[in-house]
Amino acid sequence: MYYVDGKWIEPGEAAVHPEDRGYQFGDGIYEVFRIYQGKIYQWDSHFARLQRSANELQLALPWTNSELKAIAEQLMEKNGIGGSDDAILYMQVTRGAAPRQHEYPDNQRPVLSAFARHKERPHAELKSGISAALVPDIRWLRCDIKSLNLLGAAMAKQQAKQSGAFEAILHRDGIVTEGSASNLFAVKDGVLHTHPANHLILHGITRQIVIELAQTLSLEVREKAFRTEFLRQADELFFTGTTVEVMPVISVDGQQVGSGRVGEVTRKLQVAFEATIA
Ligand SMILES: Cc1ncc(COP(=O)(O)O)c(C=O)c1O
Repeated sequence: MYYVDGKWIEPGEAAVHPEDRGYQFGDGIYEVFRIYQGKIYQWDSHFARLQRSANELQLALPWTNSELKAIAEQLMEKNGIGGSDDAILYMQVTRGAAPRQHEYPDNQRPVLSAFARHKERPHAELKSGISAALVPDIRWLRCDIKSLNLLGAAMAKQQAKQSGAFEAILHRDGIVTEGSASNLFAVKDGVLHTHPANHLILHGITRQIVIELAQTLSLEVREKAFRTEFLRQADELFFTGTTVEVMPVISVDGQQVGSGRVGEVTRKLQVAFEATIA
């Protein structure tokens, strides 16, 4: 069952206005939440990011933190998610319907829609690591806003898939930014390197958790841009994200990363991350 603009909708039922700006302009924002053991992980951080994305787009969210959480929890209940279930929850807010024109309409009525579904953790990939492909970052210059404009990300992921890789590593003129739907860390001589949280990447919640975990493990973290040449010499690479967690990358464009196996630093961070979801 879906939640669409205040109603509970069965799959297949019509619910969205054809002139919703989410369709016509990608004019909206979203969050993907992880549910571990029937509970939403990091709710407040996701709500804060949704609020920030909304502010950047001058979109006034009419829901408080607790009102939105109540909708999320009802949605989980209606979809039989609770107890020991692992699942994902998706929530998006568009600027709503208005006669088509580029500038924002004066009277906005944001439209919230959401779904929740069971989803296992990617145990096998977390253990074995995955492959990645380097792909040019053709996205816009406000990647810090979690907006519905995902075509650049979708094209990158498709390119990675067609070259047999699990995820794309994006670069802008040789500067490595992030994954198509994840952040990226490189490990070199025991130091973690990741792109700074500016307008060129999404400020990942898992990224921030990993930075804090690294500090508790006395691992140095440098939030500084690096180039593809550095990436190719990294001892370890891993993606972070709500659904991929701390995901080891063992090859890039068919060339092995470090030893070609999941690295020691990545493993340590996986263990520390695991402890935060228990
Ligand atoms: C482009 C991009 N970067 C990074 C992330 C990871 O962010 P988070 O850890 O908050 O899921 C995502 C997640 O969807 C993403 O789409």
